[in-house]
Amino acid sequence: MALKFEINKNLNPTPTAKREEILLNPAFGQVFTDHMVRIDWTVERGWHDAQVLPFGPIELSPAASALHYGQAIFEGIKAYRLPDGGIATFRPEANAARMQKSAQRLSMPELPKEDFIEAIRVLVNTDKDWVPAAGGEASLYLRPVMFATEATLGIHPSTSYSFYLLASPAGAYFAGGIKPVSVWISEDYVRAAPGGTGAAKCAGNYAASLLAQAQAAEKGADQVVWLDAIERKYIEEMGGMNMMFVYGNREEGNIKLVTPALSGSLLPGITRDSLLTVAQDLGYETAEVTISTTQWKEDIATGKMTETLACGTAAVVTPIGKVMSSHGEFIINNNEAGEITLQLREALTSIQRGIKEDLHGWLYQLVEA
Ligand SMILES: Cc1ncc(COP(=O)(O)O)c(C=O)c1O
Repeated sequence: MALKFEINKNLNPTPTAKREEILLNPAFGQVFTDHMVRIDWTVERGWHDAQVLPFGPIELSPAASALHYGQAIFEGIKAYRLPDGGIATFRPEANAARMQKSAQRLSMPELPKEDFIEAIRVLVNTDKDWVPAAGGEASLYLRPVMFATEATLGIHPSTSYSFYLLASPAGAYFAGGIKPVSVWISEDYVRAAPGGTGAAKCAGNYAASLLAQAQAAEKGADQVVWLDAIERKYIEEMGGMNMMFVYGNREEGNIKLVTPALSGSLLPGITRDSLLTVAQDLGYETAEVTISTTQWKEDIATGKMTETLACGTAAVVTPIGKVMSSHGEFIINNNEAGEITLQLREALTSIQRGIKEDLHGWLYQLVEA
């Protein structure tokens, strides 16, 4: 049976003037709205006590097993202000399904999809004034997170968990706007291995990525590119985003959008999946492939490949302009945002923001105009 959410309003919300000032220029993930959702799970009661409550610190035993053994998973999804003033989110059932898969992998209980979506609906309705205005790049970023709360040092699946949903107004993810990023191909570190947790959105994957990201920064790159763990040859993804490669050009009418196949060690991005469909709607061929770093370099050098981009919920679509590794470096599309990259970005964001027809039923209305 679907959970019923109790609403406990924040009696001391952010003053309107302060909130409006924040919304003029939101950074990423720094400020949170006045409320959050909490749902608890125990072996005895399953999911229970669904509530909206004031955003704030939580009480947790220092023995909580999430802190020691890492049973912690999360999601990332956005709410958009529509041109008519209503609010929608994008493919929430896909995030709900991915969180269930992450839960399975980490031996955690699955939150039913309807409760996941209702948590989003209830929180965004409560904090609807925090959703930035239509017409720009800003949105309300939603962060579902679930972790083990049992106070035990025994290594076993926890007997209790909490799910929280946080909301944070977000501007453009990369401060420089839609400028190409530079990447460092990591050969020293891997993000995930076959049989590991790479396809799950679990906290540990991100902890393990930080050192490689620091190395990339040291080398002068914005982001790290992950390779397969075994041969260290095949491209998996970039930082917290999937990657796509554009072959061909408009003049010759032979555009093909290619992305690394879901190997089991890369995260199945919802933006990745959506862009493959959007590209097909635009009349482009698409393919999920295995692509090596050597092939990447060669195809750029011969001009067969014209653009490379990264995609994910937070930054949507970002061009990759410069590739660096211990073997040297190369430039893509004169280090400029490519036309197909920009076209795909525009096509997807205009569906997400209710500007273009939603042919695939991806938008989910949260608040009516
Ligand atoms: C490692 C990783 N890859 C890819 C993605 C892109 O996924 P999505 O498009 O669902 O945001 C994310 C972000 O969630 C990520 O953390």
